[in-house]
Amino acid sequence: MKKKLILCLLPLGLLTACGGGDETADNSGDKPAAQSMIEEDAPADPKGIGEVKHVELNSPLNEEMVNKGREIYDLKCSACHKLTDMRVVGPGWKGITDRRTPEWIMNMTLNVDVMLEEDPAAREMLKECLVRMPNQNLTQQDARDVLEFMLKNDGKS
Ligand code: HEC
Repeated sequence: MKKKLILCLLPLGLLTACGGGDETADNSGDKPAAQSMIEEDAPADPKGIGEVKHVELNSPLNEEMVNKGREIYDLKCSACHKLTDMRVVGPGWKGITDRRTPEWIMNMTLNVDVMLEEDPAAREMLKECLVRMPNQNLTQQDARDVLEFMLKNDGKS
């Protein structure tokens, strides 16, 4: 685990190359479809690629799911993702629910390998970060709980 972490942190020296913390990182996330610098015939699907086709959002947020999501985050995501807009290994999560659709977020979480190969916005991030997010083996419910936590972190209610 330690070793893995060190490996992941190595690209820290490249923070600037990774767009670390500055606004360009946020802006680039705004329009995953339009932003594609890769020449591909099919336009990007704002829902990403994977099994998640439609997410029903809760209003108000389900606090039990928020808490489960937070636990999963602490355990499996916090080493690489901060809750601010600061990039560490991966992008900070602040504002992520405004930049991305709920389906895209869940597909990125559950189907990261395919997303990094085929989704233009994900590929763009990989080019900046130079680290492949490892699959965290979450269940669909886990990923949904993490999404609920992200919504909470973005001040949604
Ligand atoms: C070892 C580091 C690492 C861990 C652990 C990790 N990620 Fe990531 N994540 C990344 C990197 C790096 C990226 C950017 C894409 C790339 O380069 O692979 C990313 C991107 C993302 C994105 C897209 C971010 C955006 O701004 O669009 C989501 C969503 C995401 N991760 C969810 C998760 C979830 C949920 C967990 C925990 C279950 C998690 N990640 C754990 C490294 C990690």
